[in-house]
Amino acid sequence: MSDHDQTGQEAQSRISAAEDLSALEALRVEYLGKQGSISGLLKTLGKMTPEERQEKAPAIQALRQSVTDAITARKAELEAAELEARLATETLDLTLPAPQAPQGSVHPVSQVMDELAEIFADLGFAVATGPEIEDDWYNFTALNMPESHPARAMHDTFYFPDTAPKGGKMLLRTHTSPVQVRTMLAEGAPLRIIAPGRVYRSDSDATHTPMFHQIEGLVIDKGIHLGHLKWTLETFLKAFFETEDIVLRLRPSYFPFTEPSVEVDVGFAIENGKRILGGSGDEAGHGWMELLGSGMVNRRVIEMSGLDPDEWQGFAFGVGVDRLAMLKYGMDDLRAFFDGDTRWLNHYGFSPFDQPTLSAGVGARS
Ligand code: PHE
Repeated sequence: MSDHDQTGQEAQSRISAAEDLSALEALRVEYLGKQGSISGLLKTLGKMTPEERQEKAPAIQALRQSVTDAITARKAELEAAELEARLATETLDLTLPAPQAPQGSVHPVSQVMDELAEIFADLGFAVATGPEIEDDWYNFTALNMPESHPARAMHDTFYFPDTAPKGGKMLLRTHTSPVQVRTMLAEGAPLRIIAPGRVYRSDSDATHTPMFHQIEGLVIDKGIHLGHLKWTLETFLKAFFETEDIVLRLRPSYFPFTEPSVEVDVGFAIENGKRILGGSGDEAGHGWMELLGSGMVNRRVIEMSGLDPDEWQGFAFGVGVDRLAMLKYGMDDLRAFFDGDTRWLNHYGFSPFDQPTLSAGVGARS
């Protein structure tokens, strides 16, 4: 066997024994690198006579070729094995069981908002939104509360120092009613929307927090009257509280943006010190609880929202979402809603798998 054959065989067996890419690279340098042994053999060709070269070159070049091929082949093998190993360690086992205890829960406010969206979707209402950082004009002026209107003082508004584009200061919206104006301006009429969201007032005790939640309702169409408002509220509250035994009391009231304005109370009974909805509040042992504000949209608001009030009429209402949640699910301190106490959330929260649907009853069982 010639020297070259022996070098070749030895190289082949070392290459196929290389355990990883870096060992293989070390062998490549040893044989084919600048200082490599086969590179050294190739350099000797330059010093040979043409005859000698013709005789020896084919064997040396064949050696270089076979070592190069062996390295390429082994490299492909090692890379494939590395990929296999990675795929094996990176697999996700989707058959793993769920955690023993439920992780997290749906906050009652989110639950009630989902329930309301479901109920009103069935009545043909779309969901609209507006900014929480609001322009004085949308929050007050366009709702028929010009500057110095006394009703403004009742809102305990948080103001920003910044001047609003439409005049006055920027503020944290004190109610969801500015979404009425924004939606009419953006979409025109007819309209059927609810607008859920956060609102802010500088007020705090067991039943008031500086941030709370409202849902605004707005219907704009032709020939809308108070009867439509009453039917809608009754239908919504019966679906929400899941009982036919809901008695409403409509009381004349005042809001600058509705005329006439109606405050809606719901009758309840007191059993074991707890308020249970149902029945007329005038019966013995019963009472009325204020639930929401509403009314026929003031024609000045329709006008400022870019519509002709002789052509379009409508009704609007605003409900406190937190209050609805407290009533339906029996919490008594509003402040706990925003404490983020996991014990409270575990007790009053809802399962994320229990989506409210009308067919199964919008009230989740938990
Ligand atoms: N925006 C009123 C409030 O926050 C509620 C309301 C909404 C009244 C729509 C009438 C019509 O108290």
